[in-house]
Amino acid sequence: MKYKVAVLKGDGIGPEIVESALQIIKKAQDLFGFSIELKEGLIGGIAIDKKGTPLPEETLNLCKESNAILLGAVGGPAWDSLPTEKRPEKGLLKIRKELDLYANLRPAKVWKALIEASPLKAEIVKDTDLLVIRELTGDVYYGEPRGVFKEKGKRVGINTMKYTEDEIRRVVRKAFEIARLRRKKLTSVDKSNVLEVSALWRDIVEEEKENYPDISLEHLYVDNCAMQIIKRPADFDVIVTGNIFGDIISDEAAVISGSLGMLPSASIGDRYALYEPVHGSAPDIAGKGIANPIATILSTAMMFKYSFGMWNVSDLIERAVEEALIQGYRTPDIYSAGFKEVNTVQMTVKIAENMEKLKE
Ligand code: IPM
Ligand code: MN
Repeated sequence: MKYKVAVLKGDGIGPEIVESALQIIKKAQDLFGFSIELKEGLIGGIAIDKKGTPLPEETLNLCKESNAILLGAVGGPAWDSLPTEKRPEKGLLKIRKELDLYANLRPAKVWKALIEASPLKAEIVKDTDLLVIRELTGDVYYGEPRGVFKEKGKRVGINTMKYTEDEIRRVVRKAFEIARLRRKKLTSVDKSNVLEVSALWRDIVEEEKENYPDISLEHLYVDNCAMQIIKRPADFDVIVTGNIFGDIISDEAAVISGSLGMLPSASIGDRYALYEPVHGSAPDIAGKGIANPIATILSTAMMFKYSFGMWNVSDLIERAVEEALIQGYRTPDIYSAGFKEVNTVQMTVKIAENMEKLKE
């Protein structure tokens, strides 16, 4: 089978880190003998400059013809003064919605070799390996009515938190299914002591629980969850929550691992899936060749697992990354005294060499 991947490099460090991921895909092809067709498209600020819109029609069509999408990052100071509707971020929100990418998987793992990079104590974060599943196409992000209106001559801002039963059910099911492939523990996060939307969310989770008797389930209010993630991160396995809570909780979980440069993500729907690093376009270091490519490389590992079912390839990439860290290679964002500082390309070469070495 020939797989098609849409490659959207985007802005800032996007092109550099995606190039690294492509090297890793090439290495995987050589080692395993499958074939992937890569086609590039424009997104974000560069698309605004060249096509006048952050998500041109041809990019969307390219994505719809592909089995998976690999994205770098979007945004930068050049486009910061544009109105919300025209900003690079809008391209991201539009692609999520257009392709119905409703489940956003954000793993946060503490790598043994990097444990000292965490801002929390090593004894608390050790063995942390959690996965936030954030609903990505509903909630206040898209709910209507929205806008700034006039009431009695004064401005009033409105956004609407809205979820249909079906929107909740499909992401909750996905979370139960994925928990089944991991440590079989699911935490559902809501604010059902205050919000009706959350009460519905909790009801649906309880209904779905009947279909997954092998999964242990807990419910947490989002404020309490924010505390528990810091106090006992290693206790969590899969966390499922709505769009806005997930936006916040996943950033919180991300910081536990110590470097944003290490965190991959997948945004999955029933037909399409998009893979991208959690970090942004880092305009301050763009073009310098020193960005950490690992988050994007690990996003590629997620692509092999979730889109192509190639768990062995995914696993090899992850082990190759871990090995590079154990060997002491560090890009500047994760560097500390005593380690070997490398740039983007050097890190990528080390990881590719490790893939070759570790494949038996
Ligand atoms: C994220 C980002 C986006 C979001 C922004 C850039 C629109 O924060 O992917 O988490 O809020 O979803
Ligand atoms: Mn965010």
